[in-house]
Amino acid sequence: MKSKKQILAKDKKFLWHPFTQSSFSEDPIIISSAKDEKLFDIEGKEYIDLISSWWINTHGHCRNEMVNSVFNQSKKFEQVLFAGFTHHPAVDLAARIVDILPKNLSRVFYSDNGSTSVEIAMKVAIQYWHNLGKKKTKFIAFSGGYHGDTFGAMSVGKTTGFYKPFEDILHKNFFIPFPEDWWGNNQLEESERLAINAAYKIVEKEKGKIAAVILEPLVQGAGGMKICRKEFLDKLVKIFKDSGILVIFDEVMTGFGRTGKMFATDHLTMKPDIICLAKSLTGGFIPLAATVFSEEIHKVFVDTNFSKTFLHGHSFSANPVACAAALSSLNLFNEDKTFIKIEEISKIHNDCLKKISKLQNISKIRKLGTIAAFDFKNISDSYGSLESHEIRKKFLENGLLLRPLGNTVYFMPPYCIRKENLINSYEKLIEILQ
Ligand SMILES: Cc1ncc(COP(=O)(O)O)c(C=O)c1O
Repeated sequence: MKSKKQILAKDKKFLWHPFTQSSFSEDPIIISSAKDEKLFDIEGKEYIDLISSWWINTHGHCRNEMVNSVFNQSKKFEQVLFAGFTHHPAVDLAARIVDILPKNLSRVFYSDNGSTSVEIAMKVAIQYWHNLGKKKTKFIAFSGGYHGDTFGAMSVGKTTGFYKPFEDILHKNFFIPFPEDWWGNNQLEESERLAINAAYKIVEKEKGKIAAVILEPLVQGAGGMKICRKEFLDKLVKIFKDSGILVIFDEVMTGFGRTGKMFATDHLTMKPDIICLAKSLTGGFIPLAATVFSEEIHKVFVDTNFSKTFLHGHSFSANPVACAAALSSLNLFNEDKTFIKIEEISKIHNDCLKKISKLQNISKIRKLGTIAAFDFKNISDSYGSLESHEIRKKFLENGLLLRPLGNTVYFMPPYCIRKENLINSYEKLIEILQ
């Protein structure tokens, strides 16, 4: 086995890590194994994965059931192109996904990551209108939303501030403020009113140009784990629905139990026309994404004229091994009684956040399902600030995998996390913050 020094030397020489400034980042941690909620580095130090490894791992690392399903499928066949071919895992998974989504969503298009699932949703929305003989190419999104790093996704997420170098070439879209809810926010109704008014104004003026609205329902992830009220979101979505604007829910982060229900849309009365799923779709095992459409949208692409075809595809679309992993992950929701675990995590969050609320320099405590967050007033709120970096380092030294977004500290653990490990992690965090 290679030594730590050798691995790091190679890493330094050949690799470029995501969202990382190599000039002042510490050496990356070399993970050599993982089990359930724990990651182990090459020297045996353990880390509690409190953010599900970038919000993807649901049932814990290296679950035997998932290992077996991936292994068994790999032995049968590992990959086949998905144009002109199909297979058991892809059709079974599509049927399972449709079964757990709102009734109107019934047509699955596979890709392999969250950004591509969003790109597909946006392209289909534009071509839907094109196929109907209309030119509608603009989108409405929330300020501060994040939908991925490809160009279409960047154009509806650019208010996150991540995309400065590309701003000039990003498609110009419309943005409405996101009314953040937190414990004790007494300005909430006013900020919801402003957001609703902003939506009315855009719709009134620009309706003829708008292909769709794209929203992270209830929780903005990368934008700072911000939460809005479901009553507000229902009201907002109704404005778009009443105006005939297509509604896309980007559930890449919120999907598969994170908000306490299978999907964030399950908290709402209004349903989207398109939904984007990725991250936890395979329980964090293998990259896979699905964009799911209503049949009304799909049928606009079915025509004897080839020009109406959706000419889009990815080499790894519907990879059978990834589909097998996703099926296994969905089975585990029943076998593990996952929603009971989710409920328990949610209760622990509540109890521990109450303790955190007593600390000085803490603000904007919020929680939904398995997602808990608060802001740390002492440090800069900009993403990647040195202070934020220092805090992350301190967490890691203490065996906690937490990755603050600017001054926002958040928890989003895998559902298998042992009660005592979650509670101990909060206790360590409180010590560190003090
Ligand atoms: C809501 C949302 N949409 C899209 C994406 C992009 O997903 P990916 O990183 O898999 O491209 C993310 C990633 O964090 C996300 O949180």
